[in-house]
Amino acid sequence: MAIYSIDDLSRREILRMSAVLAASAASLSIASVASAATLPRTPGQILGPFYPLKELPRNADLTSVPGRSGRAAGQILNVMGRVLNVSGEPVRGATLEVWQANSYGRYTHPSDTNPAPLDPNFDGCAVLMTDLQGHYRFKTIKPAAYPAGANLIRPAHIHFQVSGRNDRLVTQMYFEGDPHNDKDPFLNSAARKELLTTQLRDPSSEFEPDSKVVTFDIVLYNG
Ligand SMILES: [Fe+2]
Repeated sequence: MAIYSIDDLSRREILRMSAVLAASAASLSIASVASAATLPRTPGQILGPFYPLKELPRNADLTSVPGRSGRAAGQILNVMGRVLNVSGEPVRGATLEVWQANSYGRYTHPSDTNPAPLDPNFDGCAVLMTDLQGHYRFKTIKPAAYPAGANLIRPAHIHFQVSGRNDRLVTQMYFEGDPHNDKDPFLNSAARKELLTTQLRDPSSEFEPDSKVVTFDIVLYNG
């Protein structure tokens, strides 16, 4: 049987308590890292010259124009996602303004000099609001790429201006595989351009069978 002096026991107890405290500190540290885990903020992009002049309609279906029976030309696209803050919390009641070119690459904006045709059944803009879980959703058509100067073709994209209670973000959503993505200076100005690029997916049964679906989550700082 080993015989320990009081000093030995004290030393052993101190060492044991130190180990316990160190383990506690480590787990506290892990917990604090976990609670501080941050989502990457969605990169900002330029507003661009074609922000709508008129009041944006509160209409989550951009594929038709009120008062007209026709349907917008092009690939029907369901765009959905959530607006979150960097802690992953939903931003409820955020306002999303969206605007885009039509399926020929033309905006319904008086300053767009692209000779591509207008689509009488497509205005290409709307204002939306997130629900309690931060979700938004709208139906539109896939925009086309368009020329923007002598040596630049902008890849297909949809513009967003998102306003929460504390933050406003202006950005653009792009499509994976667009042949003009690699040379676009605006998309490539983003440190993490994959955060702005969505993937076209086939629809689930709740959507029109010939439509496509993309998911674009938007992360504000505070929300
Ligand atoms: Fe644009």
